[in-house]
Amino acid sequence: MAEPVVLVTGGARGIGAALARHHAAKGATVVIADVDEGGAAVADETGGVFVHSDVSTGDGTAAAVRAAEDRGGIAVLHLNAGVPGGTAFGDGFDTDRYRRGIGVNLDAVVFGIQAALPGMRARGGGAILVTASLAGLAISGDVFYAAAKHAAIGLVRSCAATLGESPITVNALCPGFVRTPMLEPFVPWLEEAGVLVAEPALVCEAADAVLASGRTGEAWPVQAGQPFEPWRFGQVVVSRSS
Ligand SMILES: NC(=O)c1ccc[n+]([C@@H]2O[C@H](COP(=O)([O-])OP(=O)(O)OC[C@H]3O[C@@H](n4cnc5c(N)ncnc54)[C@H](O)[C@@H]3O)[C@@H](O)[C@H]2O)c1
Repeated sequence: MAEPVVLVTGGARGIGAALARHHAAKGATVVIADVDEGGAAVADETGGVFVHSDVSTGDGTAAAVRAAEDRGGIAVLHLNAGVPGGTAFGDGFDTDRYRRGIGVNLDAVVFGIQAALPGMRARGGGAILVTASLAGLAISGDVFYAAAKHAAIGLVRSCAATLGESPITVNALCPGFVRTPMLEPFVPWLEEAGVLVAEPALVCEAADAVLASGRTGEAWPVQAGQPFEPWRFGQVVVSRSS
């Protein structure tokens, strides 16, 4: 049987590189899409493929998805690329940085799902895992990051609902604090404050648990020392005339 193909955006380092290594170790063909050329080394190491692409653009995402489809079609899609919010409210507000943050943290998720769905539909299945964040479930000082991650979770839940009984699953992984280059500057401060900083391997474990669950449309907090369970959202009751 052909090896399953796993596409990981933002796979050059951090959580994405860990996911790429994890899937490759289980026998998958891994396609890594990243703007960082370091993705080529991860591809060499995992026997995978590196696609230099900016997934915040439709074209960049399409190139990555094409590369994965050419190798047999995507079984698992990790829409994982992410950046900090980039700016904040106030005098220094920077529109370009704001757009860049939304581009990578949200637009790339939209483009990724849009590009991957036709192939998954044609093959009759597939799993999409969006690396969101606990900042998509809670309040964060990085407000535009939080806004994009909240939106990504809303997108996952609504998208899964529109797919109905389809064999395509869409879920959000919501890590707390994970030791990666993105978090590196804050790790000493977090650890001093007693916050548990997880290793990227925990996100791989969570991804396995979500995939094995067969569930869809859920947001899964990923925190050291806590079980992997879907987040329980409050129920919204729509007002009716009678
Ligand atoms: N590290 C944490 O504590 C933490 C917590 C919650 C969520 N996350 C999320 O996990 C994901 C991975 O983060 P990480 O901590 O590994 O960060 P990281 O900075 O170590 O890795 C992010 C990767 O995304 C790539 N990337 C950025 N913009 C891109 C673009 N336009 N196109 C393609 N690739 C691009 C980067 O080059 C990098 O390789 C992100 O979505 C992040 O928001 C991280």
